[in-house]
Amino acid sequence: MINHKHISKDNNTPPSMNGLVPTLNQYGYMVETPLPVSQKFIQYAGETKGLVLDIGAAYGAVAIPALKKGATVIANDLDSRHLEILWENTPEYLQKNLRLVEGKFPDAVEFLPSSLKAVHAAGVLHYLPGDGIKKAFKKIFNMLELGGKFFFYTTAPYITLFSKYYPIYLKKKAAGTEWPGLMKNSWFYAPHYKGCIPKRINLLDEDIITHLFISTGFLIEEMEYQSVQNAPQEFQSDGKGFIAVVGKKPNYTKSQI
Ligand SMILES: C[S@@+](CC[C@H](N)C(=O)[O-])C[C@H]1O[C@@H](n2cnc3c(N)ncnc32)[C@H](O)[C@@H]1O
Repeated sequence: MINHKHISKDNNTPPSMNGLVPTLNQYGYMVETPLPVSQKFIQYAGETKGLVLDIGAAYGAVAIPALKKGATVIANDLDSRHLEILWENTPEYLQKNLRLVEGKFPDAVEFLPSSLKAVHAAGVLHYLPGDGIKKAFKKIFNMLELGGKFFFYTTAPYITLFSKYYPIYLKKKAAGTEWPGLMKNSWFYAPHYKGCIPKRINLLDEDIITHLFISTGFLIEEMEYQSVQNAPQEFQSDGKGFIAVVGKKPNYTKSQI
Protein backbone atom coordinates (compact mmCIF):
# COMPACT_ATOMS: atom_id res chain seq x y z
CA MET A 1 0.00 0.00 0.00
CA ILE A 2 1.25 3.47 -0.83
CA ASN A 3 2.21 5.63 2.12
CA HIS A 4 0.06 8.70 1.53
CA LYS A 5 2.39 10.87 3.59
CA HIS A 6 3.49 14.04 1.80
CA ILE A 7 7.10 13.56 0.76
CA SER A 8 8.08 16.39 -1.55
CA LYS A 9 6.54 19.16 -3.58
CA ASP A 10 8.98 21.31 -5.47
CA ASN A 11 6.79 22.26 -8.45
CA ASN A 12 3.16 22.14 -9.60
CA THR A 13 3.07 18.34 -9.68
CA PRO A 14 1.10 16.63 -6.90
CA PRO A 15 3.40 15.23 -4.21
CA SER A 16 5.07 11.91 -4.87
CA MET A 17 4.25 8.98 -2.62
CA ASN A 18 6.96 6.33 -2.55
CA GLY A 19 8.14 7.23 -6.04
CA LEU A 20 4.60 7.32 -7.46
CA VAL A 21 2.75 10.53 -8.30
CA PRO A 22 -1.06 10.22 -8.30
CA THR A 23 -2.89 11.30 -11.44
CA LEU A 24 -5.77 13.78 -11.10
CA ASN A 25 -8.17 11.51 -13.01
CA GLN A 26 -7.63 8.28 -11.05
CA TYR A 27 -5.66 6.72 -13.88
CA GLY A 28 -3.02 5.35 -11.54
CA TYR A 29 0.36 6.94 -10.91
CA MET A 30 3.11 8.64 -12.84
CA VAL A 31 6.46 7.07 -12.04
CA GLU A 32 8.70 9.76 -10.54
CA THR A 33 11.98 8.19 -11.70
CA PRO A 34 11.47 6.91 -15.25
CA LEU A 35 12.07 3.18 -15.80
CA PRO A 36 15.16 2.16 -17.82
CA VAL A 37 13.08 1.82 -21.03
CA SER A 38 11.83 5.41 -20.59
CA GLN A 39 15.42 6.56 -19.96
CA LYS A 40 16.32 4.94 -23.28
CA PHE A 41 13.52 6.86 -24.99
CA ILE A 42 14.80 10.11 -23.47
CA GLN A 43 18.31 9.35 -24.72
CA TYR A 44 17.11 8.31 -28.19
CA ALA A 45 14.80 11.31 -28.53
CA GLY A 46 17.74 13.58 -27.75
CA GLU A 47 20.04 11.86 -30.23
CA THR A 48 17.56 12.01 -33.11
CA LYS A 49 16.65 15.64 -32.30
CA GLY A 50 13.39 14.92 -34.12
CA LEU A 51 9.68 14.87 -33.41
CA VAL A 52 8.64 12.30 -30.79
CA LEU A 53 5.36 11.43 -29.10
CA ASP A 54 4.75 10.57 -25.43
CA ILE A 55 1.34 8.90 -25.00
CA GLY A 56 -0.14 9.27 -21.49
CA ALA A 57 2.55 11.80 -20.59
CA ALA A 58 0.92 12.85 -17.28
CA TYR A 59 3.03 15.63 -15.65
CA GLY A 60 6.05 15.12 -17.90
CA ALA A 61 8.48 12.89 -15.97
CA VAL A 62 9.68 11.65 -19.36
CA ALA A 63 8.62 14.43 -21.77
CA ILE A 64 10.55 17.18 -19.94
CA PRO A 65 13.89 15.30 -19.79
CA ALA A 66 13.44 14.47 -23.52
CA LEU A 67 12.99 18.19 -24.24
CA LYS A 68 16.09 18.95 -22.20
CA LYS A 69 18.03 16.48 -24.38
CA GLY A 70 17.02 18.43 -27.50
CA ALA A 71 13.93 16.62 -28.82
CA THR A 72 10.71 18.20 -30.04
CA VAL A 73 8.02 16.49 -27.99
CA ILE A 74 4.31 15.98 -28.52
CA ALA A 75 2.86 15.23 -25.10
CA ASN A 76 -0.51 13.48 -25.25
CA ASP A 77 -2.84 12.84 -22.33
CA LEU A 78 -6.58 12.47 -21.97
CA ASP A 79 -6.59 14.89 -19.02
CA SER A 80 -5.89 18.53 -19.90
CA ARG A 81 -5.04 19.31 -16.25
CA HIS A 82 -2.01 17.02 -16.50
CA LEU A 83 -0.90 18.77 -19.68
CA GLU A 84 -1.30 22.21 -18.09
CA ILE A 85 0.97 21.17 -15.22
CA LEU A 86 3.43 19.67 -17.71
CA TRP A 87 3.51 22.99 -19.58
CA GLU A 88 4.05 24.98 -16.37
CA ASN A 89 6.85 22.63 -15.29
CA THR A 90 8.64 22.96 -18.63
CA PRO A 91 11.44 25.56 -18.63
CA GLU A 92 10.30 28.53 -20.71
CA TYR A 93 13.17 28.22 -23.22
CA LEU A 94 11.96 24.69 -24.08
CA GLN A 95 8.22 25.40 -24.40
CA LYS A 96 8.71 26.23 -28.10
CA ASN A 97 9.66 22.57 -28.62
CA LEU A 98 6.62 21.18 -26.79
CA ARG A 99 3.20 20.46 -28.34
CA LEU A 100 0.31 19.41 -26.12
CA VAL A 101 -2.36 17.11 -27.51
CA GLU A 102 -5.33 16.35 -25.31
CA GLY A 103 -7.33 13.25 -26.24
CA LYS A 104 -7.78 9.55 -25.81
CA PHE A 105 -5.28 7.50 -27.76
CA PRO A 106 -5.75 5.89 -30.28
CA ASP A 107 -9.11 7.26 -31.50
CA ALA A 108 -8.74 10.96 -30.68
CA VAL A 109 -5.11 11.38 -31.73
CA GLU A 110 -4.03 11.64 -35.36
CA PHE A 111 -0.66 12.41 -36.96
CA LEU A 112 0.63 12.04 -40.48
CA PRO A 113 2.06 8.65 -41.45
CA SER A 114 5.85 8.34 -41.05
CA SER A 115 6.04 11.66 -39.20
CA LEU A 116 7.62 10.58 -35.89
CA LYS A 117 11.12 9.47 -34.90
CA ALA A 118 9.96 7.71 -31.75
CA VAL A 119 6.92 6.97 -29.62
CA HIS A 120 6.82 6.33 -25.87
CA ALA A 121 3.83 4.71 -24.16
CA ALA A 122 4.47 3.89 -20.52
CA GLY A 123 1.86 2.56 -18.12
CA VAL A 124 -1.00 3.60 -20.35
CA LEU A 125 -2.10 1.10 -23.01
CA HIS A 126 -3.18 -1.47 -20.38
CA TYR A 127 -6.23 0.73 -19.75
CA LEU A 128 -7.55 -0.15 -23.21
CA PRO A 129 -9.59 -3.22 -24.15
CA GLY A 130 -7.97 -5.70 -26.57
CA ASP A 131 -9.23 -4.14 -29.80
CA GLY A 132 -8.09 -0.69 -28.56
CA ILE A 133 -4.59 -2.03 -27.87
CA LYS A 134 -4.39 -3.58 -31.37
CA LYS A 135 -5.58 -0.32 -32.92
CA ALA A 136 -3.02 1.65 -30.84
CA PHE A 137 -0.14 -0.55 -32.04
CA LYS A 138 -1.20 -0.16 -35.69
CA LYS A 139 -1.49 3.61 -35.33
CA ILE A 140 1.91 3.90 -33.64
CA PHE A 141 3.54 1.78 -36.38
CA ASN A 142 1.94 3.91 -39.08
CA MET A 143 2.99 7.23 -37.49
CA LEU A 144 6.63 6.17 -37.08
CA GLU A 145 9.09 6.85 -39.87
CA LEU A 146 11.07 3.90 -41.28
CA GLY A 147 13.60 2.85 -38.64
CA GLY A 148 11.63 4.71 -35.93
CA LYS A 149 11.38 3.23 -32.44
CA PHE A 150 8.58 2.42 -30.02
CA PHE A 151 9.45 2.42 -26.30
CA PHE A 152 6.81 0.67 -24.24
CA TYR A 153 6.15 -0.78 -20.83
CA THR A 154 3.08 -2.17 -19.22
CA THR A 155 1.84 -3.98 -16.13
CA ALA A 156 2.36 -7.75 -16.16
CA PRO A 157 0.00 -10.41 -14.73
CA TYR A 158 2.71 -11.27 -12.15
CA ILE A 159 2.40 -7.95 -10.31
CA THR A 160 1.81 -8.60 -6.59
CA LEU A 161 -0.81 -5.85 -6.56
CA PHE A 162 -3.16 -8.15 -8.49
CA SER A 163 -2.00 -11.48 -7.05
CA LYS A 164 -5.63 -12.38 -6.26
CA TYR A 165 -6.35 -12.28 -10.00
CA TYR A 166 -3.30 -14.38 -10.94
CA PRO A 167 -5.05 -17.81 -10.66
CA ILE A 168 -7.84 -16.52 -12.92
CA TYR A 169 -5.26 -15.27 -15.42
CA LEU A 170 -3.61 -18.72 -15.39
CA LYS A 171 -6.95 -20.47 -15.99
CA LYS A 172 -7.89 -18.14 -18.85
CA LYS A 173 -4.42 -18.51 -20.35
CA ALA A 174 -4.69 -22.30 -20.23
CA ALA A 175 -8.12 -22.07 -21.91
CA GLY A 176 -6.62 -20.06 -24.77
CA THR A 177 -8.45 -16.79 -24.03
CA GLU A 178 -7.10 -13.96 -26.23
CA TRP A 179 -6.83 -11.45 -23.35
CA PRO A 180 -6.40 -13.55 -20.18
CA GLY A 181 -5.23 -10.55 -18.16
CA LEU A 182 -8.34 -8.45 -18.82
CA MET A 183 -9.82 -7.52 -15.42
CA LYS A 184 -13.21 -5.87 -15.67
CA ASN A 185 -13.13 -4.90 -11.99
CA SER A 186 -9.59 -4.36 -10.75
CA TRP A 187 -10.99 -2.83 -7.53
CA PHE A 188 -12.25 -6.25 -6.48
CA TYR A 189 -8.72 -7.64 -6.63
CA ALA A 190 -6.97 -4.57 -5.15
CA PRO A 191 -9.68 -2.94 -2.97
CA HIS A 192 -7.20 -0.56 -1.32
CA TYR A 193 -6.73 1.12 -4.72
CA LYS A 194 -10.45 1.57 -5.37
CA GLY A 195 -10.93 5.01 -6.90
CA CYS A 196 -7.17 5.43 -7.57
CA ILE A 197 -6.97 3.23 -10.68
CA PRO A 198 -9.48 2.49 -13.47
CA LYS A 199 -11.73 -0.53 -13.02
CA ARG A 200 -10.71 -2.07 -16.33
CA ILE A 201 -7.07 -3.09 -16.56
CA ASN A 202 -5.68 -5.35 -19.26
CA LEU A 203 -2.56 -7.09 -17.91
CA LEU A 204 -0.31 -8.17 -20.78
CA ASP A 205 2.16 -11.07 -20.69
CA GLU A 206 5.22 -11.78 -22.85
CA ASP A 207 3.27 -13.90 -25.39
CA ILE A 208 0.64 -11.23 -25.98
CA ILE A 209 3.22 -8.43 -26.18
CA THR A 210 5.44 -10.40 -28.59
CA HIS A 211 2.43 -11.16 -30.78
CA LEU A 212 1.32 -7.50 -30.75
CA PHE A 213 4.75 -6.23 -31.81
CA ILE A 214 5.43 -8.91 -34.45
CA SER A 215 1.94 -8.98 -36.00
CA THR A 216 2.02 -5.18 -36.31
CA GLY A 217 5.32 -5.36 -38.19
CA PHE A 218 7.82 -4.28 -35.50
CA LEU A 219 11.19 -5.86 -34.88
CA ILE A 220 11.72 -6.46 -31.16
CA GLU A 221 15.08 -5.05 -30.09
CA GLU A 222 14.75 -5.60 -26.34
CA MET A 223 12.22 -7.09 -23.98
CA GLU A 224 12.72 -7.46 -20.22
CA TYR A 225 11.12 -7.09 -16.80
CA GLN A 226 11.68 -3.75 -15.13
CA SER A 227 10.84 -2.29 -11.70
CA VAL A 228 9.65 1.02 -10.37
CA GLN A 229 12.35 2.46 -8.11
CA ASN A 230 11.41 2.89 -4.44
CA ALA A 231 7.80 1.82 -4.99
CA PRO A 232 6.08 -0.49 -2.47
CA GLN A 233 6.74 -4.24 -2.81
CA GLU A 234 3.28 -4.83 -4.30
CA PHE A 235 4.48 -2.86 -7.34
CA GLN A 236 7.97 -4.41 -7.37
CA SER A 237 6.78 -8.03 -7.55
CA ASP A 238 10.32 -9.44 -7.33
CA GLY A 239 11.23 -7.44 -10.41
CA LYS A 240 8.51 -8.98 -12.63
CA GLY A 241 5.74 -6.39 -12.23
CA PHE A 242 6.36 -4.58 -15.51
CA ILE A 243 7.38 -5.71 -18.99
CA ALA A 244 9.40 -3.25 -21.06
CA VAL A 245 10.01 -3.42 -24.80
CA VAL A 246 11.90 -1.44 -27.42
CA GLY A 247 10.44 -2.13 -30.88
CA LYS A 248 11.74 -0.87 -34.21
CA LYS A 249 9.88 -0.20 -37.43
CA PRO A 250 12.05 -1.83 -40.11
CA ASN A 251 14.14 0.42 -42.37
CA TYR A 252 12.39 -1.00 -45.44
CA THR A 253 8.81 -1.29 -46.63
CA LYS A 254 7.43 -4.68 -47.63
CA SER A 255 7.43 -3.78 -51.33
CA GLN A 256 11.23 -3.13 -51.14
CA ILE A 257 12.08 -6.65 -49.94
C1 LIG B 1 -0.45 5.51 -14.98
S1 LIG B 1 -0.24 7.12 -15.70
C2 LIG B 1 1.32 6.87 -16.47
C3 LIG B 1 2.09 8.15 -16.64
C4 LIG B 1 3.47 8.02 -17.26
N1 LIG B 1 3.42 7.63 -18.65
C5 LIG B 1 4.34 7.05 -16.48
O1 LIG B 1 4.60 5.96 -16.96
O2 LIG B 1 4.75 7.39 -15.38
C6 LIG B 1 -1.36 7.06 -17.07
C7 LIG B 1 -1.53 8.40 -17.78
O3 LIG B 1 -2.10 8.14 -19.06
C8 LIG B 1 -3.25 8.94 -19.28
N2 LIG B 1 -4.13 8.12 -20.13
C9 LIG B 1 -4.82 7.01 -19.79
N3 LIG B 1 -5.42 6.47 -20.86
C10 LIG B 1 -5.08 7.25 -21.93
C11 LIG B 1 -5.36 7.21 -23.32
N4 LIG B 1 -6.12 6.23 -23.86
N5 LIG B 1 -4.87 8.18 -24.11
C12 LIG B 1 -4.09 9.18 -23.61
N6 LIG B 1 -3.77 9.26 -22.29
C13 LIG B 1 -4.25 8.31 -21.46
C14 LIG B 1 -3.79 9.26 -17.91
O4 LIG B 1 -4.54 10.46 -17.91
C15 LIG B 1 -2.51 9.36 -17.09
O5 LIG B 1 -1.97 10.64 -17.11
